[in-house]
This record gives sequence, structure tokens and C-alpha cells, in this order.
Amino acid sequence: MQKQEFYVTAAPGTEEALRDELIELGFAQVRLNRGGIPFFGSLEEGWRACLETRLGQRVMLVLRRYPADSPQQFYEGALKLPWQLYLSPEQSISTAAYVHESRNENPNFIALKLKDAIVDSQRKQWGRRSDVERQDSDLRAFAYWSRGKATVYLDLSGEPLFKRGYRLDGGHAPLKETLAAAVLRMAGWDRKTPLVDPMCGSASLLIEAALWAGNVAPGIRRERFGFERWANFKDAEKEKMAALRGECRRKSSGQHPRITGYDIDPEVLQSAKENARSAGVRLSFKRLPLKELCPEGQRRFLVCNPPYGVRLDADNRLYQELGSAIQRLSGWRCAVLAGNPTCLRNIQLQPQELFKLKNGNIDCQLAVYEVP
Ligand SMILES: C[S@@+](CC[C@H](N)C(=O)[O-])C[C@H]1O[C@@H](n2cnc3c(N)ncnc32)[C@H](O)[C@@H]1O
Repeated sequence: MQKQEFYVTAAPGTEEALRDELIELGFAQVRLNRGGIPFFGSLEEGWRACLETRLGQRVMLVLRRYPADSPQQFYEGALKLPWQLYLSPEQSISTAAYVHESRNENPNFIALKLKDAIVDSQRKQWGRRSDVERQDSDLRAFAYWSRGKATVYLDLSGEPLFKRGYRLDGGHAPLKETLAAAVLRMAGWDRKTPLVDPMCGSASLLIEAALWAGNVAPGIRRERFGFERWANFKDAEKEKMAALRGECRRKSSGQHPRITGYDIDPEVLQSAKENARSAGVRLSFKRLPLKELCPEGQRRFLVCNPPYGVRLDADNRLYQELGSAIQRLSGWRCAVLAGNPTCLRNIQLQPQELFKLKNGNIDCQLAVYEVP
């Protein structure tokens, strides 16, 4: 089986966690890289990554890396690629590009050159070409151009992988599922200790925790990934993909420790319950203001993503309340994803670990406390 190179994109700050996840999942030649993690394998390994990575945002197939010093050289390199394997003229395409600051070129122009290369190669072969469809194309191609080197990728994912297919309602400022999964892993949750989110919102952290603990493949609910629309995805490939989905289902236990969500807002709790039901996980929810949170029963793991100024009203008092609550939780491990470092100071505890992350465009910090 021919080995191909794949590249799994990561939210900034989650690269090491994604590398660890891909190694655990058994992918080969996984390497740490900024912005995303490469691995090598058969095309089927790329499909499996779409099904199994919780942290990866997109899985890309590297079609070719080549030297290119001008847009014309970039175009000529892309023209030589075997587009006919992946795309027939009846299918639609979209292209995008990222140009490193070392090149003074407009990324839209490079994306246009990539589109030209694809349709020109089709015209040569068939006398017909694909239409461009921005929103929902059959094939998404992507170019990265930096310091005289171009890389052309195909996106296997289709819709970004955080769209697991279970979310019915967003609540206020929900975390992307991929980031929620990264927070749980980076915070060191062991998948066994009972988990509490005292400001659970739409329950992204809790649902992702339950799916991870139960070994439920995050992509198992997706009806179709991008690669399932490619021209080379025929009956034999459909059978192999069905077998991969079956294997994922067999590996899942669906078991998880007790997972509890609290929130002050009853409407938000209602949508959290609906999201959990849709994801097929059994979680407990209760309306509880943060200041009433107290330790009960066994030691637990607390994780939360309180509101913060950029997206919700900043509330230093809330962080003081959170600090007081955390100090009551003797023996617990507590992880707080905060969008504002000054808010974190109100917790008045020294974190054992501090990670920098990005939630969309917002610079965040993940602080992890071991409460004495
Ligand atoms: C940023 S959202 C959490 C988003 C959540 N992680 C998700 O992905 O959906 C913060 C949540 O804190 C809740 N909240 C705000 N003040 C609270 C308080 N004093 N006690 C409990 N919950 C509170 C809000 O209702 C909101 O749902």
C-alpha cells in the first residue's frame, strides 16, 4: 500500500496535545509542527484520522511539495497534479490559499491560480471543466506558499471536524468541540475521575469528556466526509469505509464516570440536556449558581470556561467566586479556560500548569490547579 503524507490542522496551542493523540491512535511517523501535525500512511489511514481525531480541525492529504518562485511556477507545478483521480468535470471545486508573509502575494490570487491549474488540466483531458462552488464543493484544494516552496493539499474532512453532528443548540459562546477535547487532554483529565463543569453552557466540555471516556469515535455520526465525494471513492472504497466505521463502533464502550453540569441559566441547561441526549451520553444537570458549589462525595475533576469580556461581559467578581469555590475543593484538580489573564488573577491561587491557547481569535489561558 502506497504511503501518503497527511497533515492534521490544530488550534494554536494544541499542537503537542494533537501530536500525542495521533500517536496514541496509532498513526505512523507523527511529528510535532506548528499549526498542524503531519503523519504518513495509506489513504485509509487518512479516512481513519477523520473518524478518530478529537482535536484535529481538518485532515489534509499532501498532494505535492515543489519549489515555486513565482505565481506562474506555482501554477505550472499544480497543473502537473493528477486531478482526474479525485475530480470529474461534473463535480464542483473550491480553492483557498495561505501565503506566508515572506511572499508579497495576495492569497486570493494564489487560490485563483490553483483553480486555474485544476480546470486547465481538466480541459486538456476532457474538454470540460468543474464549476466553482464556494459553500459546499465536492473537492476542496488548498495551497500553502512560503519561501520559494509550495504545497498543495486536498481536504479530506469536508465540513470542519468540530462539527460532530450532535449539537442542536449553541448556548452562549460555546467552545468548538475540538477545542473542548484539547482542553480536557491538556488539563490531564484521566477519563475515570468524576467530572464537574460548574458553568457548563451548552455542555461542550462534558459531552466531549463522555465521548472520550467511552471511546466513541468523534466522527462516527458524520454522514459524509469530504473524501467520500471524491471521484476515486467508489464501491470498493465505500465498503472499506463501512468496515472502518464498524470497527470504531466495536471499539466504543460508551461507559464513562459520573459527569455533572451546573449553570445559572435554566434555558442554557435545557439546551445542554438536549445536546447530551442528541450525542447519546447520560449526563446530570442541575441549576446551581457558582457560589453554591461545594465538595460533595468523592474527589472530582473540575473543568470550566467562564464568561469573559471579549464575548460575554467580563466579571471579575465571578472569578473571585470561582477562586473561593476552588479553594473549598480540597484534593480536586481544577482546570479553567480563561479569555483574560487579569480575570485569572482573581482566582488567587498559583496554577500548577498554564497553557496558552486560542479560542477562534481570542487569546486564552488554560490554568490547572491542584487544590491542597
Ligand atoms: C462561556 S459560557 C460556557 C460555554 C460552555 N463551555 C460551552 O461550550 O457551551 C459560560 C456559562 O457560565 C454561565 N454562568 C455565568 N455566571 C454563572 C454563575 N454565577 N453560576 C453558574 N453559571 C454561570 C453562563 O450561563 C454560561 O452558560
